[in-house]
Order: sequence, then structure tokens, then C-alpha cells
Amino acid sequence: MNNTPSALDPQGAAIFIADLWWLLLGLGTLVFLLVMTYLATALRRGGASPLDPPRPVRGTRAIVLGGVILPVIVLSIVLVATVRTLWALSSLTKADPLVIHVMGQQWWWEVQYPDHQFETANEIHIPVGEPVQIHLSSDNVIHSFWVPELHGKLDLIPGKTNTFWIQADRPGEYRGLCAEYCGVQHANMMFLVIAEPPEQFAAWLEAQRQPAAQPTDELAKQGQEIFLASTCINCHTIAGTNATGDLGPDLTHLAARRTLGSAMIVNNIGNLGGWIADPQHIKPGNLMPPAENLDGAALQALLAYLQTLR
Ligand code: CUA
Repeated sequence: MNNTPSALDPQGAAIFIADLWWLLLGLGTLVFLLVMTYLATALRRGGASPLDPPRPVRGTRAIVLGGVILPVIVLSIVLVATVRTLWALSSLTKADPLVIHVMGQQWWWEVQYPDHQFETANEIHIPVGEPVQIHLSSDNVIHSFWVPELHGKLDLIPGKTNTFWIQADRPGEYRGLCAEYCGVQHANMMFLVIAEPPEQFAAWLEAQRQPAAQPTDELAKQGQEIFLASTCINCHTIAGTNATGDLGPDLTHLAARRTLGSAMIVNNIGNLGGWIADPQHIKPGNLMPPAENLDGAALQALLAYLQTLR
């Protein structure tokens, strides 16, 4: 897993943003070097004594050149390059696209595929090489959706839906993050974008559309009973059962996800057990209470059940 995504390693439309960044860096460096050269020259020459009477300013050429013409040239280049970048980014579009709704939660990402009627969390699968339309919204505070290698940032604003497009040119796993301070776990509000070849993506889509499989193993069956009799169902949904809570992430295909806690930890049975026993230890301030009434055996059964949710 790439833990430090870089906007300077673009794998999609982010290449336009990276190009603009390099241009701004180059121009900024040139201007800085020019100013420093003038400053060094002035310092080397030495100045008049403060006691001397002020010298009259001779000629306005340097002022017009350095104060008007040069800034106009530099800022015009920046303006044209910025407009071109915006235009290039907005040209990413497709008829009849895959639409994904992303809702910012405190502090995780609710992900819906409205045309396919399922919901997941913190993991967005997309087909590679194809523009995908993302709708962003929030019912709590403002968050910001950012996948540095794929696109620029866009805010998730309560009462408003922002729409934009992302595209990954190469298959792979791209790390995204929240780029707007939204509360104590803002820095741990991450997600994955997984770009897959079309057949692999179609298979994932088909699997996600299915309700959860019924457990066959004795321990897992026992775990399912524990889950459905507990307060877990007030917040979580498992399609195909009577767990229909919608405060926390949908768990229908929990075991198929790569991470837990919005991409904080790898999804394996040990981490899942640790998370359920004391989620506040891993992610202080999140809304999930610790499972106080679970003894060791019950936790084992619950984990066996959750592992079947593939
Ligand atoms: Cu959500 Cu910062």
C-alpha cells in the first residue's frame, strides 16, 4: 500500500495539475533568483551613509521594466496556464458514465453505487482508463475529497452536491484522504481508490450487489446470532439480515475490503478483533462504542461470522 501518495506522481488527469505545479515552481524560482541577484549586487556595492542627503531618483526604466512589464509577463503566463489546466480537467467526461456517490462522515467515507443499488465504505472501485463521475456530499461538516495521484481536491459540503470526474490510467491502488479539517480524526480519514481492468471491475460489482451469504460453519452461525442480537444492528447494515442501521459503514461485504477504520489499518482478523474490542484505542473520538458485553468466546464467534462477509 502506498502510504504517501504524491501529486507529483500523477496517474490520471492529475498530470495537468502536476504540469501546472512544475511551471509555477520554475517561474517562482526564476523570479526569486532575479531578486536575489539584484539584492546581492546592491549589497556588494555598498550604500550611501544614512547621514548623506537623499539622492534624486534617476530614470524610471528599471521601475517600469521590473515593476510592470516583468510581472505582467509572468502573471499572463500563469493565467493562461491555469485556464488551460482547468479546461483540460473539465474536458474529462463520458456519456452514460459510472456514477458513484461519496458521503463524508465523521470520520469515514460512505460510498454508494446508485445504479447498482449497493453501498460500501472507504474503498472505491473504478474501471481503469475510463472517466467516472463522482458526486460528493455531506450531512455533517465540510470534508474534502483528494486522491493526489488522480485529481485535485473537491469539498463535500452539507446541503450541496459537488460533481467531478476521476480517471485512473493504470490499474492500481490509490490512496485518498480528507483535505479539509473536519474534527479530531480528520488526519485519519482516508480511503482507497482501486482501479481495475474492466472484467475484474465487473466481477467486483456483481459480488457487491449480492446480499451477504448465510454462514454455514457452526462458529460463524453462532457469531451471526450474536451480531443480530446485539446493538451492532443499530448502526450497521448487513444486506440479507435484519441489520439495517445506517450510522456506521455497511458491513455486507466487510471481509472483502482491504482496510479498516477508513484505511488506517489492514483488514485482517487480528486487527478486526482489536477494532471491535476497543475502537477508541485505535481511533480516539470515532462514534463506535467498545464492545463491553463480549467475552473472548463471543468475540471469536463474531469474528468468524464477519470473516464470511466476502
Ligand atoms: Cu473529513 Cu477532514
